[in-house]
Amino acid sequence: MAKEIHEQPEVIGHTLANYLDFSAGTARARDLPFDWKTLRRVVITACGTAYYAGLTAKYWFERFARLPVDIDVASEFRYREMPMEPGGLALFVSQSGETADTLASLRYCRAQGQHIGAVVNVPTSTIARESDVVFPTLAGPEIGVASTKAFTCQLSTLCALAIMAGRARGFLSAEDEAKLVAALGEAPRMMAAALRTEPQIEKLAKNLSKASDVLYLGRGTSYPLALEGALKLKEISYIHAEGYAAGELKHGPIALIDENMPVVVIAPYDRIFEKTVSNMQEVAARGGRIILISDQKGHEEAGITPHEAIILPEMPSTITPLVYSVPVQLLAYHTALHIGTDVDQPRNLAKSVTVE
Ligand code: AGP
Repeated sequence: MAKEIHEQPEVIGHTLANYLDFSAGTARARDLPFDWKTLRRVVITACGTAYYAGLTAKYWFERFARLPVDIDVASEFRYREMPMEPGGLALFVSQSGETADTLASLRYCRAQGQHIGAVVNVPTSTIARESDVVFPTLAGPEIGVASTKAFTCQLSTLCALAIMAGRARGFLSAEDEAKLVAALGEAPRMMAAALRTEPQIEKLAKNLSKASDVLYLGRGTSYPLALEGALKLKEISYIHAEGYAAGELKHGPIALIDENMPVVVIAPYDRIFEKTVSNMQEVAARGGRIILISDQKGHEEAGITPHEAIILPEMPSTITPLVYSVPVQLLAYHTALHIGTDVDQPRNLAKSVTVE
């Protein structure tokens, strides 16, 4: 897992180079069997971590391309009998390309006359073979049961697709496209910088390893990352963790907050940062132990003194889901190491879930 976390700047670079022309400032994919312009919505289906990548993509497709996205976990989608207008686009996100529920959802969408696109890491997989178009993630083989580099490569691919869609549909100008492409081009370097927080994370994970419950909060594209952070911690450390949209705090989970509750707040300084600040204040007022992951500006504007501060460089908001994944993964990894669990082969889990 450590190796796969550390490979991310490199494999993200490869994946992005497959979809982006950095000198021209454009995003591209050849021989698409559908036209972004005529699509009325996109359906995304996946499981686990791949689902959280898809959930992040919903924010990008809707923002860059004004293209509504329906997203569901494959185990629900496959039995939901969703009505679908023929000619729509259904995207399936999967590292292995063999996940049973994702494959069953793909076959349902095929029967409903959808164009089938797969964001997969294993190009010879069943999901890749049964798709009309494959958008490969170039993470290389992912062996650790807990997905890390496949996740950030899925994010990179999906972000490039959303930019392509935005440009093709006329919601992004050539200049907007070039800016977004340049922002993505910064991701490998920023991820390398994020990896340098490891010694600090290793230390603070010692305390976290004593917790019995951990809450993760985020807004916007940091919300799916909060869900992913909680999943990662559960999977490899066996500590109970929940991810929440920060704005949902008042609707229930705030009742859990006391001085024993660590709260990981993922909050880059962005246009909704202020909203997250008020949630942090609610946590701080109840004695919650905040671990704030933000940039310098965010830490200055937070208005609270967190229990622990993880400071990342300032960066374009488009790439924060990719870069902030790194400390989130390292936090789960080092917490599990302190506890002494097997991070590569956590109990009860298989790398690929090929049966229901
Ligand atoms: C992630 O850490 C998990 N082990 C799991 O949630 C995984 O992402 C999920 O089973 C989907 O697998 P896939 O990407 O191979 O379809």
